[in-house]
Amino acid sequence: MSEIHICEVGPRDGLQNAKHLMPTQAKKAWIGALAAAGLREIEVGSFVPPKLIPAMADTAEIVSFAKTLPGLKVVALAPNLKGFQRALEAGAHKVTFPVSASRLHSESNVRMTPEQMVEEVRKCAQHPHPGVELEGAVSTAFGCTLQGPVPEDDVVRIAARLAELCDCVALADTVGYANPAQVRRIFRRVKSEIGEKLEGAHFHDTRGLGLANALAAYEEGVRHFDSSMGGLGGCPFAPGASGNVVTEDLVFMFEAMGLDTGIDLEALFKARALLSSAIPEEPIYGHIPLAGLPKGFSRHV
Ligand code: COA
Ligand code: ZN
Repeated sequence: MSEIHICEVGPRDGLQNAKHLMPTQAKKAWIGALAAAGLREIEVGSFVPPKLIPAMADTAEIVSFAKTLPGLKVVALAPNLKGFQRALEAGAHKVTFPVSASRLHSESNVRMTPEQMVEEVRKCAQHPHPGVELEGAVSTAFGCTLQGPVPEDDVVRIAARLAELCDCVALADTVGYANPAQVRRIFRRVKSEIGEKLEGAHFHDTRGLGLANALAAYEEGVRHFDSSMGGLGGCPFAPGASGNVVTEDLVFMFEAMGLDTGIDLEALFKARALLSSAIPEEPIYGHIPLAGLPKGFSRHV
Protein backbone atom coordinates (compact mmCIF):
# COMPACT_ATOMS: atom_id res chain seq x y z
CA MET A 1 0.00 0.00 0.00
CA SER A 2 1.28 3.45 -0.91
CA GLU A 3 1.66 5.99 1.86
CA ILE A 4 -0.03 8.63 -0.29
CA HIS A 5 -3.09 7.81 -2.33
CA ILE A 6 -3.74 10.04 -5.34
CA CYS A 7 -6.97 10.05 -7.32
CA GLU A 8 -6.54 11.50 -10.81
CA VAL A 9 -9.58 13.65 -11.58
CA GLY A 10 -8.47 15.05 -14.95
CA PRO A 11 -10.84 12.95 -17.05
CA ARG A 12 -13.76 14.41 -15.03
CA ASP A 13 -12.84 17.74 -13.39
CA GLY A 14 -10.43 18.51 -16.23
CA LEU A 15 -12.36 17.57 -19.32
CA GLN A 16 -15.70 18.98 -18.05
CA ASN A 17 -14.10 22.42 -18.21
CA ALA A 18 -11.96 22.01 -21.36
CA LYS A 19 -12.86 24.06 -24.40
CA HIS A 20 -12.32 21.11 -26.72
CA LEU A 21 -13.87 17.66 -26.56
CA MET A 22 -11.50 14.75 -26.17
CA PRO A 23 -12.57 11.90 -28.44
CA THR A 24 -13.61 8.70 -26.60
CA GLN A 25 -10.70 6.66 -27.99
CA ALA A 26 -8.20 9.27 -26.84
CA LYS A 27 -9.79 9.31 -23.37
CA LYS A 28 -9.34 5.56 -23.15
CA ALA A 29 -5.68 5.76 -24.21
CA TRP A 30 -5.03 8.55 -21.70
CA ILE A 31 -6.74 6.72 -18.83
CA GLY A 32 -4.81 3.56 -19.75
CA ALA A 33 -1.53 5.50 -19.60
CA LEU A 34 -2.47 7.06 -16.25
CA ALA A 35 -3.17 3.61 -14.81
CA ALA A 36 0.10 2.32 -16.29
CA ALA A 37 1.93 5.13 -14.46
CA GLY A 38 0.65 3.70 -11.17
CA LEU A 39 -2.52 5.67 -10.48
CA ARG A 40 -4.81 3.29 -8.60
CA GLU A 41 -7.88 5.54 -8.58
CA ILE A 42 -9.20 7.65 -11.44
CA GLU A 43 -12.38 9.75 -11.57
CA VAL A 44 -13.19 8.95 -15.16
CA GLY A 45 -16.31 11.04 -15.73
CA SER A 46 -19.68 12.19 -14.47
CA PHE A 47 -23.25 11.07 -15.02
CA VAL A 48 -24.84 14.42 -15.71
CA PRO A 49 -27.24 15.34 -18.53
CA PRO A 50 -25.16 15.16 -21.75
CA LYS A 51 -26.84 18.36 -22.93
CA LEU A 52 -25.43 20.16 -19.89
CA ILE A 53 -21.85 18.86 -20.24
CA PRO A 54 -21.31 17.22 -23.65
CA ALA A 55 -17.74 16.20 -22.71
CA MET A 56 -19.23 13.70 -20.22
CA ALA A 57 -21.67 12.06 -22.66
CA ASP A 58 -19.48 8.96 -23.07
CA THR A 59 -18.93 8.31 -19.35
CA ALA A 60 -20.70 4.90 -19.34
CA GLU A 61 -18.41 3.65 -22.10
CA ILE A 62 -15.37 5.10 -20.33
CA VAL A 63 -16.36 3.40 -17.05
CA SER A 64 -16.69 0.01 -18.79
CA PHE A 65 -13.29 0.49 -20.39
CA ALA A 66 -11.61 1.64 -17.17
CA LYS A 67 -12.96 -1.44 -15.37
CA THR A 68 -10.81 -3.61 -17.63
CA LEU A 69 -7.63 -2.00 -16.21
CA PRO A 70 -6.36 -4.29 -13.45
CA GLY A 71 -6.33 -2.94 -9.90
CA LEU A 72 -7.91 0.40 -10.82
CA LYS A 73 -10.68 1.92 -8.69
CA VAL A 74 -13.07 3.53 -11.16
CA VAL A 75 -14.83 6.62 -9.80
CA ALA A 76 -17.68 8.64 -11.31
CA LEU A 77 -19.44 11.77 -10.13
CA ALA A 78 -23.23 11.85 -9.84
CA PRO A 79 -25.32 14.95 -9.05
CA ASN A 80 -28.59 13.15 -8.34
CA LEU A 81 -30.37 9.78 -8.10
CA LYS A 82 -30.66 9.47 -11.85
CA GLY A 83 -26.91 9.96 -12.24
CA PHE A 84 -26.30 7.48 -9.42
CA GLN A 85 -28.47 4.86 -11.13
CA ARG A 86 -26.56 5.40 -14.39
CA ALA A 87 -23.27 5.02 -12.48
CA LEU A 88 -24.46 1.74 -10.92
CA GLU A 89 -25.60 0.46 -14.29
CA ALA A 90 -22.21 1.28 -15.81
CA GLY A 91 -20.48 -0.49 -12.90
CA ALA A 92 -18.51 2.34 -11.25
CA HIS A 93 -16.63 1.16 -8.15
CA LYS A 94 -17.10 4.45 -6.33
CA VAL A 95 -19.51 7.35 -6.78
CA THR A 96 -18.84 10.85 -5.56
CA PHE A 97 -21.58 13.40 -4.83
CA PRO A 98 -20.83 17.14 -4.97
CA VAL A 99 -22.56 18.89 -2.07
CA SER A 100 -21.78 22.59 -1.92
CA ALA A 101 -21.51 24.32 1.40
CA SER A 102 -22.31 27.55 -0.45
CA ARG A 103 -26.01 27.90 -1.18
CA LEU A 104 -25.43 30.01 -4.28
CA HIS A 105 -22.93 27.56 -5.78
CA SER A 106 -25.20 24.64 -4.95
CA GLU A 107 -28.13 26.28 -6.73
CA SER A 108 -25.93 27.17 -9.70
CA ASN A 109 -24.31 23.74 -9.91
CA VAL A 110 -27.08 21.27 -9.15
CA ARG A 111 -30.17 23.50 -8.94
CA MET A 112 -30.74 22.37 -5.38
CA THR A 113 -30.02 23.99 -2.03
CA PRO A 114 -27.34 22.26 0.06
CA GLU A 115 -30.12 20.74 2.20
CA GLN A 116 -31.96 19.42 -0.87
CA MET A 117 -28.70 17.97 -2.19
CA VAL A 118 -28.06 16.19 1.12
CA GLU A 119 -31.57 14.68 0.76
CA GLU A 120 -30.66 13.59 -2.80
CA VAL A 121 -27.56 11.86 -1.41
CA ARG A 122 -29.79 10.20 1.20
CA LYS A 123 -32.01 8.80 -1.59
CA CYS A 124 -28.90 7.42 -3.30
CA ALA A 125 -27.55 5.92 -0.08
CA GLN A 126 -30.91 4.20 0.48
CA HIS A 127 -30.95 2.83 -3.06
CA PRO A 128 -29.34 -0.65 -3.17
CA HIS A 129 -25.70 -0.35 -4.23
CA PRO A 130 -23.91 -3.57 -3.26
CA GLY A 131 -20.14 -3.18 -3.07
CA VAL A 132 -20.16 0.39 -4.38
CA GLU A 133 -18.38 3.00 -2.29
CA LEU A 134 -20.04 6.38 -1.75
CA GLU A 135 -18.11 9.60 -1.24
CA GLY A 136 -19.66 12.87 -0.13
CA ALA A 137 -17.57 15.79 -1.34
CA VAL A 138 -18.18 19.12 0.38
CA SER A 139 -17.63 21.62 -2.47
CA THR A 140 -16.76 25.30 -1.91
CA ALA A 141 -15.63 24.29 1.59
CA PHE A 142 -13.08 27.12 1.70
CA GLY A 143 -15.03 29.90 0.01
CA CYS A 144 -17.12 30.57 -3.08
CA THR A 145 -16.83 32.97 -6.01
CA LEU A 146 -20.61 33.51 -5.92
CA GLN A 147 -21.26 33.77 -2.18
CA GLY A 148 -17.85 34.87 -0.90
CA PRO A 149 -16.92 33.48 2.50
CA VAL A 150 -18.50 30.15 3.46
CA PRO A 151 -19.13 29.76 7.21
CA GLU A 152 -17.05 26.95 8.69
CA ASP A 153 -20.08 25.81 10.68
CA ASP A 154 -21.87 25.11 7.39
CA VAL A 155 -18.95 22.98 6.18
CA VAL A 156 -18.85 21.01 9.44
CA ARG A 157 -22.64 20.50 9.44
CA ILE A 158 -22.75 19.22 5.84
CA ALA A 159 -19.71 17.00 6.35
CA ALA A 160 -21.38 15.47 9.42
CA ARG A 161 -24.58 14.74 7.51
CA LEU A 162 -22.64 13.23 4.61
CA ALA A 163 -20.63 11.08 7.02
CA GLU A 164 -23.93 9.45 8.11
CA LEU A 165 -24.79 8.58 4.51
CA CYS A 166 -21.47 7.90 2.78
CA ASP A 167 -18.41 5.71 3.28
CA CYS A 168 -16.07 8.67 3.17
CA VAL A 169 -16.09 12.44 2.99
CA ALA A 170 -13.80 14.85 1.13
CA LEU A 171 -13.37 18.60 1.42
CA ALA A 172 -13.04 20.47 -1.86
CA ASP A 173 -11.69 23.93 -2.59
CA THR A 174 -13.70 24.21 -5.80
CA VAL A 175 -12.59 27.75 -6.68
CA GLY A 176 -9.06 27.88 -5.27
CA TYR A 177 -9.70 30.20 -2.30
CA ALA A 178 -8.08 28.09 0.42
CA ASN A 179 -4.89 28.90 2.31
CA PRO A 180 -2.82 26.53 4.43
CA ALA A 181 -3.88 27.93 7.82
CA GLN A 182 -7.53 27.62 6.84
CA VAL A 183 -6.94 24.10 5.50
CA ARG A 184 -5.41 23.04 8.83
CA ARG A 185 -8.23 24.60 10.81
CA ILE A 186 -11.13 23.22 8.78
CA PHE A 187 -9.69 19.72 8.36
CA ARG A 188 -9.06 19.62 12.11
CA ARG A 189 -12.61 20.76 12.92
CA VAL A 190 -14.25 18.32 10.52
CA LYS A 191 -12.03 15.47 11.71
CA SER A 192 -12.98 16.09 15.31
CA GLU A 193 -16.62 15.81 14.22
CA ILE A 194 -16.51 12.77 11.87
CA GLY A 195 -13.15 11.11 12.61
CA GLU A 196 -11.74 8.65 10.08
CA LYS A 197 -14.62 9.19 7.64
CA LEU A 198 -12.85 12.37 6.62
CA GLU A 199 -10.61 11.08 3.88
CA GLY A 200 -9.97 13.21 0.80
CA ALA A 201 -8.66 16.65 -0.05
CA HIS A 202 -9.47 18.25 -3.40
CA PHE A 203 -7.61 21.46 -4.15
CA HIS A 204 -7.58 23.84 -7.07
CA ASP A 205 -4.49 25.89 -7.81
CA THR A 206 -6.29 29.01 -9.03
CA ARG A 207 -4.33 31.30 -6.69
CA GLY A 208 -1.13 29.29 -6.62
CA LEU A 209 -1.63 27.70 -3.21
CA GLY A 210 -2.59 24.20 -4.32
CA LEU A 211 0.60 22.41 -3.23
CA ALA A 212 0.89 24.44 -0.03
CA ASN A 213 -2.67 23.45 0.82
CA ALA A 214 -1.98 19.79 0.03
CA LEU A 215 1.01 19.86 2.35
CA ALA A 216 -1.05 21.49 5.10
CA ALA A 217 -3.68 18.78 4.70
CA TYR A 218 -0.96 16.12 4.79
CA GLU A 219 0.27 17.57 8.07
CA GLU A 220 -3.28 17.24 9.42
CA GLY A 221 -3.19 13.52 8.60
CA VAL A 222 -4.80 13.50 5.14
CA ARG A 223 -3.44 10.75 2.88
CA HIS A 224 -5.96 10.85 0.00
CA PHE A 225 -5.62 13.64 -2.55
CA ASP A 226 -7.36 14.50 -5.80
CA SER A 227 -5.30 16.14 -8.53
CA SER A 228 -5.39 16.64 -12.24
CA MET A 229 -2.78 15.99 -14.90
CA GLY A 230 -1.49 19.23 -16.40
CA GLY A 231 -3.62 21.17 -13.93
CA LEU A 232 -6.75 20.88 -16.04
CA GLY A 233 -10.00 21.47 -14.26
CA GLY A 234 -12.66 23.74 -12.91
CA CYS A 235 -16.37 23.80 -12.32
CA PRO A 236 -18.32 25.29 -15.24
CA PHE A 237 -20.94 26.48 -12.72
CA ALA A 238 -18.51 28.32 -10.44
CA PRO A 239 -17.34 31.49 -12.19
CA GLY A 240 -13.56 31.90 -12.11
CA ALA A 241 -12.80 28.33 -11.12
CA SER A 242 -9.68 27.00 -12.82
CA GLY A 243 -7.37 24.02 -12.67
CA ASN A 244 -6.76 21.45 -10.01
CA VAL A 245 -3.46 20.96 -8.28
CA VAL A 246 -1.14 19.42 -10.90
CA THR A 247 -0.74 15.65 -10.49
CA GLU A 248 2.84 15.65 -11.76
CA ASP A 249 3.91 18.31 -9.22
CA LEU A 250 1.97 16.70 -6.36
CA VAL A 251 3.60 13.33 -7.03
CA PHE A 252 7.00 15.00 -7.22
CA MET A 253 6.49 16.82 -3.93
CA PHE A 254 5.57 13.68 -2.01
CA GLU A 255 8.18 11.44 -3.66
CA ALA A 256 10.88 14.07 -3.05
CA MET A 257 9.80 14.10 0.62
CA GLY A 258 10.45 10.35 0.72
CA LEU A 259 6.78 9.35 0.64
CA ASP A 260 5.54 6.55 -1.58
CA THR A 261 2.78 7.47 -4.04
CA GLY A 262 3.14 4.27 -6.10
CA ILE A 263 3.39 6.51 -9.18
CA ASP A 264 6.24 6.55 -11.69
CA LEU A 265 6.94 10.12 -12.82
CA GLU A 266 8.56 9.18 -16.14
CA ALA A 267 5.48 7.12 -17.01
CA LEU A 268 3.32 10.03 -15.91
CA PHE A 269 5.10 12.27 -18.44
CA LYS A 270 4.17 9.77 -21.16
CA ALA A 271 0.52 10.05 -20.14
CA ARG A 272 0.90 13.84 -20.27
CA ALA A 273 2.17 13.59 -23.85
CA LEU A 274 -0.98 11.67 -24.76
CA LEU A 275 -3.13 14.32 -23.09
CA SER A 276 -1.50 17.20 -24.95
CA SER A 277 -1.66 15.43 -28.29
CA ALA A 278 -5.38 14.65 -27.78
CA ILE A 279 -6.39 18.25 -26.99
CA PRO A 280 -3.43 20.33 -28.19
CA GLU A 281 -5.33 23.65 -27.98
CA GLU A 282 -5.86 23.24 -24.24
CA PRO A 283 -3.24 24.94 -22.05
CA ILE A 284 -1.65 22.54 -19.60
CA TYR A 285 0.48 23.46 -16.62
CA GLY A 286 2.99 22.02 -14.21
CA HIS A 287 6.47 22.85 -13.00
CA ILE A 288 8.13 19.46 -12.91
CA PRO A 289 7.20 18.41 -16.46
CA LEU A 290 8.77 21.65 -17.76
CA ALA A 291 11.81 21.85 -15.47
CA GLY A 292 12.53 18.13 -15.44
CA LEU A 293 13.48 15.95 -12.49
CA PRO A 294 16.46 17.07 -10.40
CA LYS A 295 19.76 15.45 -11.33
CA GLY A 296 20.15 12.17 -9.47
CA PHE A 297 16.52 12.21 -8.33
CA SER A 298 15.23 8.86 -7.25
CA ARG A 299 11.84 7.86 -5.95
CA HIS A 300 11.26 7.51 -2.21
CA VAL A 301 12.81 3.97 -1.89
N1 COA B 1 -28.12 12.12 -16.21
C1 COA B 1 -28.79 12.25 -17.37
N2 COA B 1 -29.93 12.94 -17.51
C2 COA B 1 -30.42 13.53 -16.39
C3 COA B 1 -29.78 13.44 -15.16
C4 COA B 1 -28.58 12.71 -15.09
N3 COA B 1 -27.90 12.60 -13.93
N4 COA B 1 -30.48 14.12 -14.25
C5 COA B 1 -31.54 14.64 -14.89
N5 COA B 1 -31.51 14.29 -16.19
C6 COA B 1 -32.46 14.67 -17.25
C7 COA B 1 -33.88 14.47 -16.82
O1 COA B 1 -34.31 13.16 -17.10
C8 COA B 1 -34.60 15.51 -17.64
O2 COA B 1 -34.67 15.06 -18.97
P1 COA B 1 -35.92 15.47 -19.93
O3 COA B 1 -35.81 16.96 -20.11
O4 COA B 1 -35.64 14.70 -21.18
O5 COA B 1 -37.12 15.06 -19.17
C9 COA B 1 -33.61 16.68 -17.64
O6 COA B 1 -32.32 16.07 -17.44
C10 COA B 1 -33.87 17.69 -16.56
O7 COA B 1 -33.99 17.00 -15.31
P2 COA B 1 -34.09 17.73 -13.90
O8 COA B 1 -34.20 16.70 -12.85
O9 COA B 1 -35.12 18.80 -13.97
O10 COA B 1 -32.64 18.36 -13.77
P3 COA B 1 -32.21 19.89 -13.69
O11 COA B 1 -32.36 20.50 -15.03
O12 COA B 1 -32.85 20.53 -12.51
O13 COA B 1 -30.63 19.72 -13.40
C11 COA B 1 -28.91 18.41 -12.38
C12 COA B 1 -30.20 19.14 -12.18
C13 COA B 1 -28.42 18.01 -11.00
C14 COA B 1 -29.18 17.17 -13.25
C15 COA B 1 -27.88 19.32 -13.11
O14 COA B 1 -27.87 20.57 -12.52
C16 COA B 1 -26.46 18.75 -13.09
O15 COA B 1 -26.18 17.75 -13.73
N6 COA B 1 -25.53 19.39 -12.36
C17 COA B 1 -24.15 18.94 -12.28
C18 COA B 1 -23.28 19.90 -13.01
C19 COA B 1 -21.86 19.46 -12.97
O16 COA B 1 -21.47 18.45 -13.53
N7 COA B 1 -21.02 20.26 -12.31
C20 COA B 1 -19.62 19.99 -12.23
C21 COA B 1 -19.25 18.88 -11.33
S1 COA B 1 -19.50 19.25 -9.62
ZN1 ZN C 1 -12.76 20.37 -8.58
